[in-house]
Amino acid sequence: MSEPRPAVTHPLGVEWSRVELLASLLSQARRGREAPENRLEELRRLQAQVEAGRANGAWRAIAVPLAALEYDVLACAAAPEAEPRLAWVFQNLQPGVAQPYPTAALLHELLALDSESSHLLYAALAEGGTLRRADLIQLESDDPFQPIRPASGVTARLLGRPPLETAPPGATRVTLSPSWEDLILPASRTAMLQEFLLWIRHRSRVFGEWGGVDCGGPVALFSGPSGTGKTFAAAVLATELGWPLYRVDLGRLVSKYIGETEKNLNRLFDAAHGRPMVLQFDEADSLFSKRGEVKEARDRYANMEVSHLLARIESHQGPCILTTNLRRNLDPAFARRFQVVADFPRPAAAARALLWERLLPPAAPRASDVDTAFLGEAVNLTGGEIRNAALHAAFLAAESGRPIGLPEITLAVWRELSKSGRDLSPADLGPLAPWFPEEGLLC
Ligand SMILES: Nc1ncnc2c1ncn2[C@@H]1O[C@H](COP(=O)(O)OP(=O)(O)O)[C@@H](O)[C@H]1O
Ligand SMILES: [Mg+2]
Repeated sequence: MSEPRPAVTHPLGVEWSRVELLASLLSQARRGREAPENRLEELRRLQAQVEAGRANGAWRAIAVPLAALEYDVLACAAAPEAEPRLAWVFQNLQPGVAQPYPTAALLHELLALDSESSHLLYAALAEGGTLRRADLIQLESDDPFQPIRPASGVTARLLGRPPLETAPPGATRVTLSPSWEDLILPASRTAMLQEFLLWIRHRSRVFGEWGGVDCGGPVALFSGPSGTGKTFAAAVLATELGWPLYRVDLGRLVSKYIGETEKNLNRLFDAAHGRPMVLQFDEADSLFSKRGEVKEARDRYANMEVSHLLARIESHQGPCILTTNLRRNLDPAFARRFQVVADFPRPAAAARALLWERLLPPAAPRASDVDTAFLGEAVNLTGGEIRNAALHAAFLAAESGRPIGLPEITLAVWRELSKSGRDLSPADLGPLAPWFPEEGLLC
Protein backbone atom coordinates (compact mmCIF):
# COMPACT_ATOMS: atom_id res chain seq x y z
CA MET A 1 0.00 0.00 0.00
CA SER A 2 1.22 3.47 -0.74
CA GLU A 3 1.76 6.06 1.95
CA PRO A 4 -1.18 8.41 2.35
CA ARG A 5 -0.23 11.66 0.66
CA PRO A 6 -0.14 14.68 2.94
CA ALA A 7 -3.14 16.91 2.23
CA VAL A 8 -2.19 19.97 0.21
CA THR A 9 -3.18 22.86 2.41
CA HIS A 10 -3.60 26.41 1.31
CA PRO A 11 -1.55 28.93 3.34
CA LEU A 12 -4.86 30.50 4.41
CA GLY A 13 -6.18 27.14 5.63
CA VAL A 14 -5.11 27.90 9.20
CA GLU A 15 -7.21 31.09 9.10
CA TRP A 16 -10.36 29.03 8.46
CA SER A 17 -9.33 26.48 11.10
CA ARG A 18 -8.99 29.27 13.62
CA VAL A 19 -12.36 30.78 12.65
CA GLU A 20 -13.93 27.35 13.01
CA LEU A 21 -12.46 26.85 16.46
CA LEU A 22 -13.54 30.34 17.53
CA ALA A 23 -17.06 29.54 16.33
CA SER A 24 -17.13 26.29 18.24
CA LEU A 25 -15.87 27.97 21.41
CA LEU A 26 -18.50 30.69 21.03
CA SER A 27 -21.25 28.16 20.59
CA GLN A 28 -20.14 26.42 23.83
CA ALA A 29 -19.79 29.69 25.70
CA ARG A 30 -23.34 30.59 24.74
CA ARG A 31 -24.44 27.37 26.37
CA GLY A 32 -22.56 28.41 29.47
CA ARG A 33 -19.71 25.93 29.08
CA GLU A 34 -16.14 26.83 29.86
CA ALA A 35 -13.54 26.20 27.17
CA PRO A 36 -11.39 23.17 28.04
CA GLU A 37 -7.67 23.91 28.37
CA ASN A 38 -6.68 21.67 25.43
CA ARG A 39 -8.89 23.70 23.05
CA LEU A 40 -7.49 26.96 24.33
CA GLU A 41 -4.05 25.50 23.76
CA GLU A 42 -5.06 24.65 20.19
CA LEU A 43 -6.39 28.17 19.72
CA ARG A 44 -3.07 29.64 20.84
CA ARG A 45 -1.24 27.37 18.41
CA LEU A 46 -3.51 28.36 15.50
CA GLN A 47 -3.23 31.99 16.50
CA ALA A 48 0.56 31.80 16.26
CA GLN A 49 0.35 30.10 12.85
CA VAL A 50 -2.10 32.72 11.60
CA GLU A 51 0.21 35.51 12.69
CA ALA A 52 3.20 33.85 11.04
CA GLY A 53 1.21 33.38 7.83
CA ARG A 54 0.13 37.04 7.79
CA ALA A 55 3.73 38.13 8.26
CA ASN A 56 4.89 35.77 5.51
CA GLY A 57 2.57 36.89 2.73
CA ALA A 58 -0.26 34.33 2.99
CA TRP A 59 -2.58 37.20 2.02
CA ARG A 60 -0.46 38.56 -0.78
CA ALA A 61 -3.25 38.07 -3.31
CA ILE A 62 -5.04 41.15 -1.99
CA ALA A 63 -2.04 43.46 -2.36
CA VAL A 64 -3.04 45.94 0.39
CA PRO A 65 -1.58 45.53 3.86
CA LEU A 66 -4.22 45.26 6.60
CA ALA A 67 -4.30 45.67 10.36
CA ALA A 68 -4.73 42.49 12.43
CA LEU A 69 -8.42 43.13 13.09
CA GLU A 70 -9.02 43.84 9.39
CA TYR A 71 -7.48 40.48 8.51
CA ASP A 72 -9.80 38.90 11.08
CA VAL A 73 -12.86 40.56 9.52
CA LEU A 74 -11.89 39.52 6.01
CA ALA A 75 -11.06 35.97 7.10
CA CYS A 76 -14.49 35.64 8.74
CA ALA A 77 -16.31 37.23 5.78
CA ALA A 78 -14.57 34.94 3.28
CA ALA A 79 -14.81 31.83 5.47
CA PRO A 80 -18.29 30.69 4.32
CA GLU A 81 -17.15 30.84 0.69
CA ALA A 82 -13.74 29.29 1.32
CA GLU A 83 -15.04 26.51 3.62
CA PRO A 84 -18.73 25.91 2.98
CA ARG A 85 -19.14 24.03 6.28
CA LEU A 86 -18.42 27.34 8.01
CA ALA A 87 -21.48 28.74 6.25
CA TRP A 88 -23.58 26.30 8.31
CA VAL A 89 -21.66 27.10 11.45
CA PHE A 90 -22.33 30.83 11.02
CA GLN A 91 -25.99 30.23 10.19
CA ASN A 92 -26.39 28.33 13.45
CA LEU A 93 -24.74 31.13 15.37
CA GLN A 94 -26.98 33.82 13.82
CA PRO A 95 -30.27 32.06 13.08
CA GLY A 96 -32.16 35.31 12.33
CA VAL A 97 -29.87 36.26 9.46
CA ALA A 98 -30.82 35.02 6.02
CA GLN A 99 -27.22 34.77 4.81
CA PRO A 100 -24.24 32.68 5.88
CA TYR A 101 -21.97 35.73 6.12
CA PRO A 102 -21.15 37.00 9.60
CA THR A 103 -22.72 40.20 10.90
CA ALA A 104 -20.78 42.79 12.89
CA ALA A 105 -22.67 41.58 15.93
CA LEU A 106 -21.41 38.04 15.41
CA LEU A 107 -17.83 39.19 14.78
CA HIS A 108 -18.00 41.06 18.01
CA GLU A 109 -18.72 37.86 19.92
CA LEU A 110 -16.58 35.58 17.81
CA LEU A 111 -13.46 37.67 18.22
CA ALA A 112 -14.32 38.32 21.89
CA LEU A 113 -13.85 42.07 21.49
CA ASP A 114 -13.80 44.38 24.48
CA SER A 115 -15.27 47.86 24.25
CA GLU A 116 -12.05 49.39 22.96
CA SER A 117 -11.54 46.87 20.15
CA SER A 118 -15.24 47.08 19.40
CA HIS A 119 -14.57 50.66 18.35
CA LEU A 120 -11.80 49.40 16.07
CA LEU A 121 -14.19 46.88 14.53
CA TYR A 122 -16.60 49.63 13.49
CA ALA A 123 -13.70 51.67 12.12
CA ALA A 124 -12.62 48.65 10.07
CA LEU A 125 -16.15 48.30 8.65
CA ALA A 126 -16.60 52.00 7.93
CA GLU A 127 -16.87 53.28 4.40
CA GLY A 128 -13.53 55.09 4.63
CA GLY A 129 -11.73 52.03 6.04
CA THR A 130 -9.24 50.07 3.96
CA LEU A 131 -11.51 47.04 3.59
CA ARG A 132 -14.22 49.07 1.90
CA ARG A 133 -11.91 51.41 0.01
CA ALA A 134 -9.94 48.52 -1.47
CA ASP A 135 -13.21 46.80 -2.38
CA LEU A 136 -12.56 43.77 -0.22
CA ILE A 137 -15.85 43.62 1.65
CA GLN A 138 -19.40 44.57 0.87
CA LEU A 139 -21.91 45.94 3.34
CA GLU A 140 -25.41 47.01 2.57
CA SER A 141 -25.79 49.36 5.54
CA ASP A 142 -24.20 50.26 8.83
CA ASP A 143 -26.67 48.12 10.73
CA PRO A 144 -24.65 45.71 12.94
CA PHE A 145 -27.02 42.90 11.98
CA GLN A 146 -26.25 43.16 8.26
CA PRO A 147 -24.12 40.38 6.83
CA ILE A 148 -20.57 41.33 5.86
CA ARG A 149 -19.66 39.72 2.56
CA PRO A 150 -16.37 39.57 0.76
CA ALA A 151 -16.62 41.67 -2.42
CA SER A 152 -17.31 39.63 -5.50
CA GLY A 153 -14.27 37.69 -6.69
CA VAL A 154 -12.21 38.33 -3.53
CA THR A 155 -12.43 34.78 -2.17
CA ALA A 156 -11.51 33.34 -5.56
CA ARG A 157 -8.52 35.68 -5.64
CA LEU A 158 -7.43 34.69 -2.13
CA LEU A 159 -7.61 31.00 -2.93
CA GLY A 160 -6.11 31.32 -6.38
CA ARG A 161 -9.32 29.88 -7.88
CA PRO A 162 -10.16 31.01 -11.38
CA PRO A 163 -12.91 33.64 -11.14
CA LEU A 164 -16.31 32.35 -12.19
CA GLU A 165 -16.93 33.72 -15.63
CA THR A 166 -20.60 34.52 -15.63
CA ALA A 167 -22.10 37.44 -17.45
CA PRO A 168 -23.95 39.83 -15.16
CA PRO A 169 -27.71 39.53 -15.74
CA GLY A 170 -28.83 41.54 -18.76
CA ALA A 171 -25.34 41.64 -20.30
CA THR A 172 -23.66 39.63 -23.05
CA ARG A 173 -19.96 38.96 -23.41
CA VAL A 174 -18.21 40.57 -26.40
CA THR A 175 -15.58 38.07 -27.42
CA LEU A 176 -13.48 40.24 -29.74
CA SER A 177 -9.99 40.94 -28.44
CA PRO A 178 -8.39 43.43 -30.82
CA SER A 179 -5.26 45.44 -30.04
CA TRP A 180 -4.40 49.12 -30.56
CA GLU A 181 -2.84 48.29 -33.94
CA ASP A 182 -6.14 46.90 -35.18
CA LEU A 183 -8.01 50.09 -34.33
CA ILE A 184 -7.95 52.69 -37.07
CA LEU A 185 -8.82 56.11 -35.73
CA PRO A 186 -7.38 59.63 -35.89
CA ALA A 187 -4.52 59.97 -33.38
CA SER A 188 -6.50 62.48 -31.33
CA ARG A 189 -9.21 59.87 -30.64
CA THR A 190 -6.72 57.16 -29.79
CA ALA A 191 -5.19 59.60 -27.29
CA MET A 192 -8.60 60.10 -25.64
CA LEU A 193 -9.09 56.36 -25.35
CA GLN A 194 -5.66 55.97 -23.80
CA GLU A 195 -6.52 58.70 -21.30
CA PHE A 196 -9.66 56.78 -20.36
CA LEU A 197 -7.41 53.89 -19.34
CA LEU A 198 -5.48 56.22 -17.02
CA TRP A 199 -8.68 56.76 -15.03
CA ILE A 200 -8.73 53.04 -14.34
CA ARG A 201 -5.03 52.34 -13.93
CA HIS A 202 -4.24 55.16 -11.54
CA ARG A 203 -7.44 55.06 -9.51
CA SER A 204 -5.86 54.05 -6.25
CA ARG A 205 -3.12 56.65 -6.57
CA VAL A 206 -5.37 59.61 -7.40
CA PHE A 207 -8.36 58.73 -5.21
CA GLY A 208 -6.52 56.79 -2.53
CA GLU A 209 -3.06 58.25 -1.98
CA TRP A 210 -3.67 61.73 -3.38
CA GLY A 211 -7.11 62.26 -1.86
CA GLY A 212 -8.85 63.08 -5.16
CA VAL A 213 -12.64 63.26 -4.90
CA ASP A 214 -13.84 59.84 -6.01
CA CYS A 215 -16.55 60.31 -8.59
CA GLY A 216 -17.17 56.66 -9.50
CA GLY A 217 -16.88 55.38 -13.05
CA PRO A 218 -15.02 56.24 -15.17
CA VAL A 219 -17.73 56.67 -17.76
CA ALA A 220 -17.03 57.33 -21.43
CA LEU A 221 -19.44 58.32 -24.14
CA PHE A 222 -18.65 57.17 -27.66
CA SER A 223 -20.77 58.79 -30.33
CA GLY A 224 -20.68 58.34 -34.06
CA PRO A 225 -22.41 56.64 -36.97
CA SER A 226 -23.00 52.92 -36.81
CA GLY A 227 -19.99 50.89 -37.93
CA THR A 228 -17.34 53.45 -37.00
CA GLY A 229 -15.71 51.18 -34.43
CA LYS A 230 -17.29 52.13 -31.09
CA THR A 231 -17.74 48.54 -29.91
CA PHE A 232 -14.40 47.65 -31.45
CA ALA A 233 -12.68 50.43 -29.48
CA ALA A 234 -14.38 49.27 -26.25
CA ALA A 235 -13.00 45.80 -26.99
CA VAL A 236 -9.50 47.26 -27.45
CA LEU A 237 -9.75 48.95 -24.04
CA ALA A 238 -10.96 45.74 -22.39
CA THR A 239 -8.15 43.76 -24.02
CA GLU A 240 -5.60 46.30 -22.80
CA LEU A 241 -6.91 45.92 -19.25
CA GLY A 242 -7.11 42.14 -19.58
CA TRP A 243 -10.78 42.39 -18.50
CA PRO A 244 -13.86 40.94 -20.18
CA LEU A 245 -16.19 43.30 -22.06
CA TYR A 246 -19.93 42.95 -21.48
CA ARG A 247 -22.49 44.64 -23.68
CA VAL A 248 -25.74 45.68 -22.08
CA ASP A 249 -28.77 46.03 -24.25
CA LEU A 250 -30.60 48.99 -22.76
CA GLY A 251 -33.76 47.99 -24.58
CA ARG A 252 -33.74 44.64 -22.78
CA LEU A 253 -32.83 46.18 -19.49
CA VAL A 254 -35.37 48.97 -19.44
CA SER A 255 -38.45 46.91 -18.97
CA LYS A 256 -41.81 48.18 -20.00
CA TYR A 257 -43.04 47.16 -16.59
CA ILE A 258 -42.68 50.14 -14.35
CA GLY A 259 -40.46 49.31 -11.42
CA GLU A 260 -38.81 46.31 -13.06
CA THR A 261 -36.09 48.47 -14.56
CA GLU A 262 -34.76 49.40 -11.18
CA LYS A 263 -34.60 45.76 -10.14
CA ASN A 264 -32.87 44.83 -13.38
CA LEU A 265 -30.35 47.58 -12.84
CA ASN A 266 -29.66 46.58 -9.29
CA ARG A 267 -29.14 42.99 -10.33
CA LEU A 268 -26.74 44.04 -13.07
CA PHE A 269 -24.66 46.40 -10.97
CA ASP A 270 -24.62 44.13 -7.92
CA ALA A 271 -23.21 41.36 -10.08
CA ALA A 272 -20.67 43.73 -11.64
CA HIS A 273 -19.61 45.26 -8.33
CA GLY A 274 -15.97 44.65 -7.51
CA ARG A 275 -15.42 42.47 -10.57
CA PRO A 276 -12.91 43.55 -13.16
CA MET A 277 -14.96 44.11 -16.31
CA VAL A 278 -15.86 46.79 -18.82
CA LEU A 279 -19.57 47.45 -19.29
CA GLN A 280 -20.82 48.84 -22.57
CA PHE A 281 -24.32 50.29 -22.85
CA ASP A 282 -25.52 50.47 -26.41
CA GLU A 283 -28.13 52.81 -27.82
CA ALA A 284 -27.62 55.18 -24.94
CA ASP A 285 -29.52 57.81 -27.00
CA SER A 286 -32.60 56.92 -25.03
CA LEU A 287 -30.91 58.39 -21.98
CA PHE A 288 -30.32 61.74 -23.57
CA SER A 289 -33.80 62.57 -24.77
CA LYS A 290 -34.63 66.09 -23.72
CA ARG A 291 -35.91 66.21 -20.23
CA GLY A 292 -39.11 68.01 -19.45
CA GLU A 293 -40.88 66.67 -22.50
CA VAL A 294 -43.31 64.71 -20.44
CA LYS A 295 -46.60 64.08 -22.13
CA GLU A 296 -48.01 61.08 -20.37
CA ALA A 297 -47.66 59.47 -17.01
CA ARG A 298 -45.69 56.66 -18.65
CA ASP A 299 -43.16 59.12 -20.04
CA ARG A 300 -42.71 60.54 -16.62
CA TYR A 301 -41.83 57.08 -15.31
CA ALA A 302 -39.53 56.62 -18.25
CA ASN A 303 -37.77 59.88 -17.38
CA MET A 304 -37.43 58.88 -13.77
CA GLU A 305 -35.86 55.63 -14.82
CA VAL A 306 -33.52 57.42 -17.17
CA SER A 307 -32.13 59.64 -14.44
CA HIS A 308 -31.89 56.69 -12.08
CA LEU A 309 -30.05 54.71 -14.73
CA LEU A 310 -27.55 57.49 -15.34
CA ALA A 311 -27.00 57.94 -11.62
CA ARG A 312 -26.47 54.20 -11.20
CA ILE A 313 -23.96 54.12 -14.06
CA GLU A 314 -22.08 57.06 -12.59
CA SER A 315 -21.88 55.63 -9.10
CA HIS A 316 -20.70 52.20 -10.30
CA GLN A 317 -17.02 51.75 -9.47
CA GLY A 318 -15.75 50.46 -12.77
CA PRO A 319 -15.49 51.47 -16.39
CA CYS A 320 -18.73 52.00 -18.33
CA ILE A 321 -18.88 52.97 -21.97
CA LEU A 322 -22.06 54.42 -23.38
CA THR A 323 -22.48 54.42 -27.13
CA THR A 324 -24.83 56.40 -29.29
CA ASN A 325 -25.28 56.99 -32.98
CA LEU A 326 -26.52 60.52 -32.38
CA ARG A 327 -24.37 63.39 -31.32
CA ARG A 328 -26.60 66.34 -31.95
CA ASN A 329 -29.19 65.31 -29.36
CA LEU A 330 -26.64 65.34 -26.64
CA ASP A 331 -27.34 67.89 -23.95
CA PRO A 332 -24.00 69.52 -22.95
CA ALA A 333 -25.07 69.17 -19.31
CA PHE A 334 -25.00 65.42 -19.88
CA ALA A 335 -21.67 65.47 -21.68
CA ARG A 336 -20.09 67.05 -18.62
CA ARG A 337 -21.03 64.02 -16.55
CA PHE A 338 -18.64 61.77 -18.46
CA GLN A 339 -14.91 61.51 -17.99
CA VAL A 340 -14.28 61.02 -21.70
CA VAL A 341 -16.49 62.02 -24.63
CA ALA A 342 -15.13 60.80 -27.95
CA ASP A 343 -16.81 61.11 -31.31
CA PHE A 344 -16.03 58.46 -33.87
CA PRO A 345 -15.80 60.00 -37.33
CA ARG A 346 -16.52 58.22 -40.57
CA PRO A 347 -13.11 57.11 -41.84
CA ALA A 348 -11.35 59.32 -44.40
CA ALA A 349 -9.88 57.82 -47.59
CA ALA A 350 -6.50 56.92 -46.07
CA ALA A 351 -8.18 55.26 -43.07
CA ARG A 352 -10.49 53.36 -45.42
CA ALA A 353 -7.47 52.07 -47.34
CA LEU A 354 -5.99 50.79 -44.09
CA LEU A 355 -9.31 49.20 -43.14
CA TRP A 356 -9.47 47.40 -46.50
CA GLU A 357 -5.93 46.20 -45.96
CA ARG A 358 -6.78 44.82 -42.49
CA LEU A 359 -10.19 43.43 -43.25
CA LEU A 360 -9.58 41.51 -46.48
CA PRO A 361 -8.68 38.09 -45.05
CA PRO A 362 -4.87 38.19 -44.89
CA ALA A 363 -4.25 34.67 -46.22
CA ALA A 364 -6.82 34.87 -49.05
CA PRO A 365 -5.48 34.95 -52.62
CA ARG A 366 -5.86 38.49 -53.93
CA ALA A 367 -5.86 39.54 -57.62
CA SER A 368 -2.90 41.72 -58.51
CA ASP A 369 -5.06 44.70 -59.49
CA VAL A 370 -6.62 44.99 -56.00
CA ASP A 371 -5.07 48.16 -54.66
CA THR A 372 -6.36 49.09 -51.19
CA ALA A 373 -5.39 52.77 -51.62
CA PHE A 374 -7.64 52.84 -54.69
CA LEU A 375 -10.47 51.08 -52.79
CA GLY A 376 -10.13 53.61 -49.98
CA GLU A 377 -10.49 56.51 -52.41
CA ALA A 378 -13.26 54.88 -54.40
CA VAL A 379 -16.17 54.55 -51.97
CA ASN A 380 -17.09 56.22 -48.73
CA LEU A 381 -17.83 53.26 -46.45
CA THR A 382 -17.55 52.93 -42.67
CA GLY A 383 -15.25 50.34 -41.08
CA GLY A 384 -18.24 48.10 -40.38
CA GLU A 385 -19.31 48.30 -44.03
CA ILE A 386 -15.78 47.59 -45.23
CA ARG A 387 -15.61 44.57 -42.95
CA ASN A 388 -18.86 43.22 -44.40
CA ALA A 389 -17.86 43.96 -47.99
CA ALA A 390 -14.37 42.48 -47.59
CA LEU A 391 -15.82 39.27 -46.18
CA HIS A 392 -18.60 39.10 -48.78
CA ALA A 393 -16.00 39.45 -51.54
CA ALA A 394 -13.95 36.67 -49.91
CA PHE A 395 -16.97 34.34 -49.89
CA LEU A 396 -17.66 35.09 -53.57
CA ALA A 397 -14.04 34.24 -54.35
CA ALA A 398 -14.17 31.08 -52.24
CA GLU A 399 -17.12 29.91 -54.35
CA SER A 400 -15.61 30.80 -57.72
CA GLY A 401 -12.14 29.46 -56.95
CA ARG A 402 -10.62 32.71 -58.21
CA PRO A 403 -8.55 35.17 -56.15
CA ILE A 404 -10.46 38.09 -54.62
CA GLY A 405 -10.65 40.56 -57.51
CA LEU A 406 -12.31 43.86 -58.31
CA PRO A 407 -15.54 42.23 -59.63
CA GLU A 408 -16.03 40.43 -56.29
CA ILE A 409 -15.21 43.56 -54.30
CA THR A 410 -17.42 45.76 -56.46
CA LEU A 411 -20.41 43.44 -56.13
CA ALA A 412 -19.83 43.19 -52.37
CA VAL A 413 -19.68 46.99 -52.07
CA TRP A 414 -22.89 47.25 -54.09
CA ARG A 415 -24.61 44.81 -51.74
CA GLU A 416 -23.41 46.84 -48.78
CA LEU A 417 -24.60 50.14 -50.27
CA SER A 418 -27.97 48.54 -51.11
CA LYS A 419 -28.58 47.83 -47.43
CA SER A 420 -29.22 51.52 -46.88
CA GLY A 421 -32.53 51.02 -48.70
CA ARG A 422 -32.09 53.98 -51.04
CA ASP A 423 -32.25 53.69 -54.83
CA LEU A 424 -28.82 53.09 -56.23
CA SER A 425 -27.33 53.31 -59.69
CA PRO A 426 -23.94 51.93 -60.68
CA ALA A 427 -22.73 55.54 -60.67
CA ASP A 428 -22.83 55.33 -56.86
CA LEU A 429 -19.92 52.91 -57.15
CA GLY A 430 -17.75 55.78 -58.42
CA PRO A 431 -14.47 54.53 -59.87
CA LEU A 432 -15.53 50.91 -59.15
CA ALA A 433 -18.47 51.15 -61.61
CA PRO A 434 -16.57 49.51 -64.55
CA TRP A 435 -16.26 46.28 -62.52
CA PHE A 436 -19.91 46.08 -61.60
CA PRO A 437 -21.30 42.71 -62.73
CA GLU A 438 -24.93 43.68 -63.51
CA GLU A 439 -26.09 40.08 -63.36
CA GLY A 440 -24.20 39.14 -60.21
CA LEU A 441 -21.29 36.73 -60.27
CA LEU A 442 -22.95 33.38 -59.75
CA CYS A 443 -24.97 33.10 -62.97
N1 LIG B 1 -12.16 52.43 -36.57
C1 LIG B 1 -12.09 51.11 -36.83
N2 LIG B 1 -10.93 50.46 -36.77
C2 LIG B 1 -10.85 49.15 -37.03
N3 LIG B 1 -11.91 48.37 -37.36
C3 LIG B 1 -13.11 48.98 -37.44
C4 LIG B 1 -13.27 50.36 -37.17
N4 LIG B 1 -14.56 50.68 -37.34
C5 LIG B 1 -15.19 49.54 -37.66
N5 LIG B 1 -14.33 48.51 -37.73
C6 LIG B 1 -14.67 47.14 -38.08
O1 LIG B 1 -16.08 47.06 -38.23
C7 LIG B 1 -16.67 46.20 -37.27
C8 LIG B 1 -17.95 46.84 -36.75
O2 LIG B 1 -17.68 48.01 -36.02
P1 LIG B 1 -18.34 48.31 -34.60
O3 LIG B 1 -17.26 48.52 -33.61
O4 LIG B 1 -19.35 47.29 -34.27
O5 LIG B 1 -19.06 49.69 -34.89
P2 LIG B 1 -20.07 50.50 -33.98
O6 LIG B 1 -20.03 49.88 -32.63
O7 LIG B 1 -19.53 51.89 -34.03
O8 LIG B 1 -21.40 50.38 -34.65
C9 LIG B 1 -15.62 46.03 -36.20
O9 LIG B 1 -15.75 44.77 -35.56
C10 LIG B 1 -14.33 46.14 -36.98
O10 LIG B 1 -14.03 44.92 -37.61
MG1 LIG C 1 -21.54 48.83 -31.60
